[in-house]
Amino acid sequence: MPNVLVVSNCPSENTEQLHQAVVRGCRNDMFGEIELRAFIPWDAGPEDVLWADGVILGTTENFGYMSGALKDFLERIYYPCLEQTEGLPVALFVKGGLDGQGAKSSVERILTGLRWRFIQPPLVMKGDFRPEFLESCEHLGMTMCAGLEAGIF
Ligand SMILES: Cc1cc2nc3c(=O)[nH]c(=O)nc-3n(C[C@H](O)[C@H](O)[C@H](O)COP(=O)(O)O)c2cc1C
Repeated sequence: MPNVLVVSNCPSENTEQLHQAVVRGCRNDMFGEIELRAFIPWDAGPEDVLWADGVILGTTENFGYMSGALKDFLERIYYPCLEQTEGLPVALFVKGGLDGQGAKSSVERILTGLRWRFIQPPLVMKGDFRPEFLESCEHLGMTMCAGLEAGIF
């Protein structure tokens, strides 16, 4: 039974919707055997990462970097998880105002250090909020769960 951890910061209604869309994707009826934990970064810790078979991270871009909340999470889990999570399947979504690339690359650098494995290129959403963002996030959750259930990731 694959365990999936979703950790995303949700400082606004739009970002809360993105987080919920990822969760909705993971809870799709086609997956019978997925255990899900979904948290904001402050509420998640190393024990959740060590429990997970796959992780989905979400962040806003703030000052050209990932959010402070996600950085705090990654700082707290880095050394407790480093030796035990090599190859962990991971996906990332970024919500920016006008950009998002700085947040994306800052998370990528840390995940490279952890030696986690991206299941698909990070999803970067920017500009005016669009319904397609919700579809993409829901699809991201479904992709992670489908791949884990099928034993692909
Ligand atoms: C303190 C702060 C810094 C921000 N810095 C950036 C930035 O560097 N690049 C960017 O694209 N958006 C930036 N934003 C915009 C946020 O990414 C955006 O508000 C967030 O994705 C939430 O989206 P929403 O406003 O559609 O809810 C910043 C927002 C705040 C509050």
